[in-house]
Parts: sequence; structure tokens; C-alpha cells
Amino acid sequence: MKKNKNLKVSIVMGSQSDSKTMKFASNILKKLGIRHEMKIISAHRTPKRMYEFASSAEKNNIGVIIAGAGGSAHLPGMIAALTSIPVLGVPIESKKLKGLDSLLSIVQMPKGIPVGTLAIGRDGAINAGLIAASIIANTDPTIKKKLNNWRLSQTKSVKKKPK
Ligand code: RP5
Repeated sequence: MKKNKNLKVSIVMGSQSDSKTMKFASNILKKLGIRHEMKIISAHRTPKRMYEFASSAEKNNIGVIIAGAGGSAHLPGMIAALTSIPVLGVPIESKKLKGLDSLLSIVQMPKGIPVGTLAIGRDGAINAGLIAASIIANTDPTIKKKLNNWRLSQTKSVKKKPK
């Protein structure tokens, strides 16, 4: 196993309004002691910021990018086009179409530039955090241990009988 304990996760989102969903990704990373940052980057409102972020991500020791976006939701795909760092897309629940628009936009990347797409909303954000942790754990045995302990405590928390 190649060890690199310096890799961090970057959580980016298209708007301030996405943060109430994306904070769940941050919460799980905090629980697992994984270094991460959160940024607002909009593919259409701040395209230069998006380009600068994605093109310097490797140099900045980012190991996984979690990108949340709603509506036409092109942020994860655009970032994935600019870097070979794994990109996980979280479809944000939109007002009009309940996030189905975001989901279909993110999941339907044409072949060649993949975005790992999660469920709509909070569950997707949490699972994106957990997949990011698994990726980081491949090169960091301490994180691997924390992740496995977290999964074990989740297993133990499931009661055998309903109340
Ligand atoms: C997308 O538009 C964002 O990702 C957000 O989910 C959606 C709505 O943005 P706001 O109008 O709340 O800024 O770009």
C-alpha cells in the first residue's frame, strides 16, 4: 500500500444554498478525522474560479473532490473534465423537480469522463463522504481503521427487534 497521509478531500458546491446538504459530507469526514475544505464554486457563475480550482487540485494535494450541484448540475462533470482526481457528484434536491433534474444531469456523463454519482440530497452527501473516506483509506491505514470502526459501530447500533 502506497502511503500518503497528506491527501485531503475538497467539498465544492454551486451555491450557498447547497451547503445545508453538503454539510453532511463534511460532518462524516470530521467524524473520521479526514482533512477537508469547503468551497462555493459555480460552473456558470464563476467559471474562472472553477477552472483554477480544478487545474490546481492535484498540486494542492486533493485526493478526492465531492461536488454538489442542483438543476442542470454541470459542476461535477466540468471539474472531472479538468482533472483526473476522482470526482463524486451529489445531486441537490431542487425546488421544481425535487432533484431529479440534478440526478439525471450528473449521472448521465458520456463515456470517457466519469463522475461517481450518489443519491439525491442528504443521503448522497453522507455516502459521498464515506466513499471519499474509502479512497483516502487506501493509502492511509489510520483512516482505514477509523472507517472500519465507524462501520462496526453502525452495525452494532441496529437492534435485533423493533420496539
Ligand atoms: C445551482 O443552482 C446550485 O448548485 C444550486 O443547487 C442551484 C440554485 O442556486 P441558488 O439559486 O440557490 O443560488 O447552480
